[in-house]
Parts: sequence; structure tokens; C-alpha cells
Amino acid sequence: MTSGADSEDRRNFLRIAVIGGIAVITGGVGAASAFVPPKPGESVGAGPQPLVPMLKLGALAKDKPLRLHISLSARDGWRLRTREQLVYVVRVGDGEDAAAFKALNPVCSHAGCTIDYHEKDSQFVCPCHGAEFKTDGTKTKGPAPRDMDPLEAKIADHKGQPWLFVAWQDFVIGTEARTPRGSA
Ligand code: FES
Repeated sequence: MTSGADSEDRRNFLRIAVIGGIAVITGGVGAASAFVPPKPGESVGAGPQPLVPMLKLGALAKDKPLRLHISLSARDGWRLRTREQLVYVVRVGDGEDAAAFKALNPVCSHAGCTIDYHEKDSQFVCPCHGAEFKTDGTKTKGPAPRDMDPLEAKIADHKGQPWLFVAWQDFVIGTEARTPRGSA
């Protein structure tokens, strides 16, 4: 006979297995590769996550932002919450090192809308109140109080080849100063 605790453990295992399966299915560009169920209270996606193979970035022209998605997970009690988060990557220099690329958080610092990239104007535009930014994230028009927020990026081996890793970070909105959320 199965106890209530056993049933709950089994349900949790199945939930994790299903979410793990989704992580594998969506693997490739923008998804974390190795799914390791986090312990209670632990976040997955807080550190640098593999975002895109450098092979793909090598051909990226300057000032042509790429839309990519990073997979973030966090445990909330027994529930594992996952989300796909948009990240922009733009080449800002020559070369193939991390300094030649900038990863940008798409959340507008004015009121939190997701900033779009307008290819015909070669600029980022916030759809909510019209803030504008250059392709490197520099603000050219308000009401956003600051430039787009950069994300920490580095290059490391992944699946036998170099990838750009990006660490997702939420920031406080509505302020000129850039303050990571959770740091106050
Ligand atoms: S939320 Fe972006 S300009 Fe207001």
C-alpha cells in the first residue's frame, strides 16, 4: 500500500521529470543543457547559463542584435517554476572574446515593459511609452531613467565547443541608478 508521503514524492518526481524533459526538448540555442533539479530554495539560472555557441556569434554583424532565450528555473516550495527569458546579444567590437559582445536585459527601467528591437531604424524601442536606445543599449530618449541593463557574459566550453554564457539578473526599475534586485 502506498502512503500519502510516497504518492507526494512520486508526483514531485514526475513533475521534475516532465520539466526536465521540456528542458531537453527546448535545448539548443538559449536553453540550459544539463537539467539538475534544484534543492528547495535553490535557484537555477542565477549563475551564468549557456546561451549560444560562439560559432553562431562569429558571423554576427556589429549593431545587429540577436534575440535569444535563456531558460531559468527556481523552486518555490515544492513547485519548480521555469521561464524562458528573452536576452539580446549584440556585437560591439571585433574579435571573438566576451568583450566583443554585449548581453542586454530587455526589461525597460521605466515601468518594466519588454523592449523591442526595430530593425528598420536600427534601434531598441520600448512599446509602452516610447523610450529609445542605441543597439549597444545606450538610452537616446526617455522616459526610461537609464540605459538598458547589461548582463554578465563570459565564454566557456559547453558540449565540446565554446559558448557564450550569460548570467540573468533582474534590476530595480524606476531609478537612474542600476541596482540588482535582491541585493538591497
Ligand atoms: S515602460 Fe518603457 S518607456 Fe515606459
